[in-house]
Amino acid sequence: MSRRKRRLRIDRVLICLLILVGLICIVRFTIYTIYGFKILNQAKKGETVKLYHDNANLWKSTVKYINEDMDELTYTYRNYTVTMDSSYFKKNMNIKPSTENKKITNNDFLKQKGLYIKNNNIMGIASKIKLKLPHYLYKNGYVDLYGIDENSNYILLESRVKVSDKFFTLNIYENYTDYFITYVKLESIKTTQEYVLTEGDTKEIKLEFNPSNATNKKVTYSGYDENIITVDHGLIKAIKEGKTTVKVKGNDMSVAKIKIIVNKKKEEKKDTEKKEEKPKVTQGDDGIYYIDGIMIVNKSYPLPESYDPGKLLPEFMDAFTEMQADAQSDGIKLWIQSGYRSYDYQVGLYDMYVRQDGRDRADTYSARPGYSEHQSGLAADINNPSDSFNGTSEAIWLKENCYKYGFIIRFPENEDEYTGYKYESWHIRYVGKELSNKIHEAGDISLEKYYGIESKYSN
Ligand code: DAL
Ligand code: ZN
Repeated sequence: MSRRKRRLRIDRVLICLLILVGLICIVRFTIYTIYGFKILNQAKKGETVKLYHDNANLWKSTVKYINEDMDELTYTYRNYTVTMDSSYFKKNMNIKPSTENKKITNNDFLKQKGLYIKNNNIMGIASKIKLKLPHYLYKNGYVDLYGIDENSNYILLESRVKVSDKFFTLNIYENYTDYFITYVKLESIKTTQEYVLTEGDTKEIKLEFNPSNATNKKVTYSGYDENIITVDHGLIKAIKEGKTTVKVKGNDMSVAKIKIIVNKKKEEKKDTEKKEEKPKVTQGDDGIYYIDGIMIVNKSYPLPESYDPGKLLPEFMDAFTEMQADAQSDGIKLWIQSGYRSYDYQVGLYDMYVRQDGRDRADTYSARPGYSEHQSGLAADINNPSDSFNGTSEAIWLKENCYKYGFIIRFPENEDEYTGYKYESWHIRYVGKELSNKIHEAGDISLEKYYGIESKYSN
């Protein structure tokens, strides 16, 4: 081949290459411009923008269109969709969540399969991560979300979260960097085998679940004679003398049976013979005050400084878990903002409020150390302990439904003179279903009004 011909050929190849590069540039420029404008338009309309993190170039060329006044942005990265505050966006282009099959060190979860979501630089920036669950997790229809603290304690944050498809939206909590998503199978249910009631009585069916941290503790009650009893959320109401059996069926096929005997009610004494029976507050050997086995903590009845359950008690947690799951089915998200508080913690908290508002005002909304129900392990503040929670759909749901699970709103509206505290729509107390139902029937009044007891500091 002559030298000229060879040159011509090289030139032609070069021109073709140049045209190709030019075409690629034009196509890319067009795609990025179209995509960029799409983002801009979505931003103008205030919509959530979806960006595809997988494509670094597309990411870089579109990120410049992001408007600072857009609140939240969502981008996808492989199996994850991450929602974050838009102000973090340009600075944090390479963040991605990570999941792994980490070796679990917490004893309760050693044998438990689940998805471990590890701390990385997405935490504190992202508000939500939507991720794909492995089949063994989503096939059950429900999962639990635990936050893992620095001492490897697993704290139940969300329970019995419904997963209708393969995806789970992990809400990032301020206090937790690592998370564990799991499903704990219910093996068996244990219960008292026989309950004896009198016509008109109510009794709560107490169930013991094995394992106690089973994900789905929802049970159904069936098989009983509706002329003799009714069963509502585990509360038996005796209607007429007779015998019947209640079948308690859990998910995962576990079943328990309870024999119910309803005795005839004795003739009522005439009004004149009836004695006014006022319940009495008694102090146990442990120094704690009770009425009919219900712990009383208020301004008149403190807890001993040494009383320290260290956490919310299982009866609170089980009832809360059930309530949280049912609320979730109604589209209501409930979480524990402040649960157990030690005596010492309350010292600091109360002191802070006194410094801020003075003692008299602080006494209307914060308990003195030893006088707070939070020390009992049977009370908690839900979602947002501030007046702005009043009237929200969550507060309304809580007010209307908490009694079904054994809770009461402890400081109801306009009951300050009885409770000694202003209205707290967020503070719930576990008292068991029997009492919570009675208090509900009495008009959701305060514990003080119901029992006719005082709540006043002696000094
Ligand atoms: N806010 C309630 C009264 C407490 O401090 O326990
Ligand atoms: Zn509280």
